[in-house]
Order: sequence, then C-alpha cells, then structure tokens
Amino acid sequence: MRWIMFTAAAAALLSACSKPAEAPAGQPHVVAANDIEAGRYLVMVGSCNDCHTEGFPQAGGNIPEAERLTGRAIGYLGPWGVSYATNLRLLAQSTTEDGWVEILRSKPLLPPMPTQNISKMTEKDLRAIYRYIHSLGEAGQPEPDNLPPGVEPRTPVENLVPVPPRA
Ligand code: HEC
Repeated sequence: MRWIMFTAAAAALLSACSKPAEAPAGQPHVVAANDIEAGRYLVMVGSCNDCHTEGFPQAGGNIPEAERLTGRAIGYLGPWGVSYATNLRLLAQSTTEDGWVEILRSKPLLPPMPTQNISKMTEKDLRAIYRYIHSLGEAGQPEPDNLPPGVEPRTPVENLVPVPPRA
C-alpha cells in the first residue's frame, strides 16, 4: 500500500516536471515591469529585428534602438514574388492598437513573415509589442511595395528559392 502511494506520488512529480508550466489563457507570458518592457522583450526573442531592421543580424544586434524596426529595402524573393519587411515604426503610428492586433491575427501576410508563430501569441503579447514599438515613435522611410511573381525588382533581393546542387 505504502509502495503504491510512493509510486503514485513519484509519477505525479515526474509528470509535473515533464511539461513546462502553461500560462493561464489570456495572461501575458512575460513578467515585466510594464507592457513596454514586455514588448521590448517579445520583439527581441521574437526575432522581429532580424527582418524588420536592416543589417541587424550582421551587426550582432548593435543597432541603436532608435533606428530599429524601420523596415528593409532589400526584398525577399520567392514564388510569391518579392516581399519587403514593413516599416513597423511608421505602421505603429498610423494604426490603432486594435488594428495592429487584427493585422497580426488575420491579415494574410507574405513569407518570410512568421505569421503562423505570431498568430499564437496572446492578445496581451500583441498589444505589448504594439505599445513598445509605438513608444519608439516614427522613424525611417516606407518600405518599397511588394511585387507579384515575374515582375523585375528594382532593389536588391535575398533569394529564398532553393538552389539545386551543381553536380
Ligand atoms: C523572417 C522575416 C520576418 C520576421 C522574423 C518578422 N517579420 Fe514581420 N514581416 C516580414 C515581411 C517580409 C513582411 C511583409 C509581408 C507582406 O507584405 O505581406 C512582414 C510584415 C509584418 C507586419 C504587417 C505589416 C502590414 O503591412 O500590414 C507586421 C505587423 C509585422 N510584420 C510584425 C512583425 C513582428 C512584431 C515580428 C516579431 C514578433 C515580425 N514581424 C517578425 C518579415 C518578418
């Protein structure tokens, strides 16, 4: 009897350890002093700068915050045509917080924007990201317009089409 109780307790302990604690529905996943701090953290771990800030990965992230998230004039070429990472600093000023949530929840966005991943963020997370980017103010120029397949780009592009081996 004792042994059974012991194994049951051990099993309960093991199963508790095997999965990460889930945040309650609707709660932010991030504990931060305020929404802007949470947003700053989510933008960093969500890799938003890698595409929305020119040269961010190449600079090892050493780009002043005031200059980040202004979009890229280097396009992403694929079967979808050419997509340009949006200037989020301008977007955050021209869109309401609700509009921002709506965009990230349901606007069809071209690759390589990680829509599937971001749509799984809680609404609070999306609002925290908006508040952070909004707090940075307006900066930069609008990104070039996306191009449909077959239209020759007038900017440099990163080719995301797989290249077969030469031999
Ligand atoms: C791998 C590259 C990549 C990453 C990482 C990325 N984005 Fe994007 N994002 C893009 C591209 C490209 C577009 C343009 C898509 C289009 O025009 O359809 C875009 C579009 C958007 C838009 C829509 C703008 C509009 O025109 O309505 C928002 C908002 C956005 N990104 C926010 C984010 C946030 C927030 C993160 C981080 C959590 C992020 N992105 C991470 C590449 C990326």
